[in-house]
Amino acid sequence: MSARAFRSFAKINLGLEVLGRLPSGYHELRTIFATLSLHDIVEIEETSRGISVRSDHPGVPDDETNIAWRAAAVMQKISGRKRGVRITLHKRIAPGGGLGGGSSNAATVLRALNLMWGHNLPMSRLAKAARTLGADVPYFLVGGPALGLGRGDQIQPLDLRLRERVLLVPGAAGVSTAAVFERYAEHRNQGPRKGRSPIEGFVQGRRAPSTLRNDLEAAAIAVNPALAATARQVRRVGRDQGAIQAAMSGSGSSFFLTFDRTAARDAAARVFTESGIESIACAFLSRRSFRERFEIKPEKR
Ligand code: C5P
Repeated sequence: MSARAFRSFAKINLGLEVLGRLPSGYHELRTIFATLSLHDIVEIEETSRGISVRSDHPGVPDDETNIAWRAAAVMQKISGRKRGVRITLHKRIAPGGGLGGGSSNAATVLRALNLMWGHNLPMSRLAKAARTLGADVPYFLVGGPALGLGRGDQIQPLDLRLRERVLLVPGAAGVSTAAVFERYAEHRNQGPRKGRSPIEGFVQGRRAPSTLRNDLEAAAIAVNPALAATARQVRRVGRDQGAIQAAMSGSGSSFFLTFDRTAARDAAARVFTESGIESIACAFLSRRSFRERFEIKPEKR
């Protein structure tokens, strides 16, 4: 049977505030998610039984510890019929980068199998399945600008038009999300916060994106001290090139800059290239583009 191919987009967190600890041990968050044009490609082929996963990235497991594998298992269970899948992940989103690559792959498998197997499960049912896989997975069922509350898994779509150009700086080595949250308590220098939330102010149009911050940055640097130099350099280049925002995404290791002009973004990219640092130019995706660009039609492959 021939494979179908789907785009599995990356996200960044424009801001991330840690509000406290939930009884489950997870951290309560307030975050703004935004989808980037950067994406993996997830190829799915139907087979008679079983699940197999392979990828072109050495750091991505090919067994049941892969979150895309677990997403397929969830859909198999919902399906209740004997059917299998062969999943191939073409990775462009660096793992451990705070860009939601694995979570996005998992949500892509849920959406794709819902489509391929003709289940037509409602969003609420898919979201329930997504929550069992990871805190970031429900966001990738929705895409576009959105507020994430609770563990980051309660999603409220936002009517923000994000037109800025984005420059991603993936960071030399990925960091583990669990390790960053573990170190958070000892690096809680900013919180619990007094006064208003920058995210709430930004969503209401009262505060500039430059006021948004990521409460996990100090903990990410504690886990991977090399990120301190990345953070300094990204902010310096951002200042020199007139960036609107410079921040870390998720639990790191990626940082990003946003610009209102393509020329400024490209100038910043050249500075990084000259210093031997990788950067990736991309754009924000609206919720509509996120939906419309999901499947890669055979004539485009
Ligand atoms: O949900 P996910 O598997 O992506 O999270 C990885 C780890 O990060 C969790 O096991 C938990 O330790 C931590 N985490 C947290 N609070 C969140 C999200 C994740 O403490 N809101």
